[in-house]
Amino acid sequence: MAEVIILPSPTAAGSLVADEIVRLVQRRPDAVLGLATGSTPLPVYKALVPRLQGVDVSQVRGFALDEYVGLPEGDPESYRAVIEREVVRPLGLDPARIQVPKGSLDGIEHAGEDYERALTEAGGVDIQLLGIGTDGHIGFNEPGSSFASLTRVKTLTEQTREDNARFFPSIDDVPVHCITQGLGTIMRARHLVLLAFGAGKADAVAGAVEGAVTASLPGSAVQLHPHATVIVDEAAASSLRFADYYRYAFANKPAWQGL
Ligand code: PGA
Repeated sequence: MAEVIILPSPTAAGSLVADEIVRLVQRRPDAVLGLATGSTPLPVYKALVPRLQGVDVSQVRGFALDEYVGLPEGDPESYRAVIEREVVRPLGLDPARIQVPKGSLDGIEHAGEDYERALTEAGGVDIQLLGIGTDGHIGFNEPGSSFASLTRVKTLTEQTREDNARFFPSIDDVPVHCITQGLGTIMRARHLVLLAFGAGKADAVAGAVEGAVTASLPGSAVQLHPHATVIVDEAAASSLRFADYYRYAFANKPAWQGL
């Protein structure tokens, strides 16, 4: 089972994960970071800014989880643009070393395979940040996604389009299709760090961590990963049956273990 860490706030979670990422980059200057978009990972990126001052990030590589299909090149809500705005520029990463699946219609048939090849050539992801959708998706792997799936085009659920409509003028502007790393792709990352904040995520978190392992709740794939850390605030932890045990285990976590 995944390790579950319950913290008082997204800020505390951001600090904990940022510390781990800094340790990784110091140990391995060309570390491969698995980058996530959405609101959830923002505290991590924010906490990284001061911590990376004076750390050489010129060799750091990164791969985003997913992208919308069919947005015009340079659209500010494309995940390519979001990753540049929220991660690459603030952290001073080399944009040439950061990849996002290509969502342009031109070449979309082989964009998934190309991305898989690039991930393999990079030697795989060291630490993969993940959010979880209210419908249980990770990346854009909606319910029903195969645990063996690789990067491919998917159709977003109506729920996900509603959840993401806040970034667009209206829900009609939210793309119907996306390209996302598959669950099989995500499972190859050496360390998964799934973050969730707020009561709206409580059911998805409880299902993912304590429910049945099922493609109907793609986040439950974390239960099959040898090194998965799930970090939640109190509200997102509110449906967890074993919350007291997770608190007890974290309070007694051996210092040498790291995250
Ligand atoms: P959010 O999205 O971080 O904006 O809540 C999470 C997700 O859909 O994976």
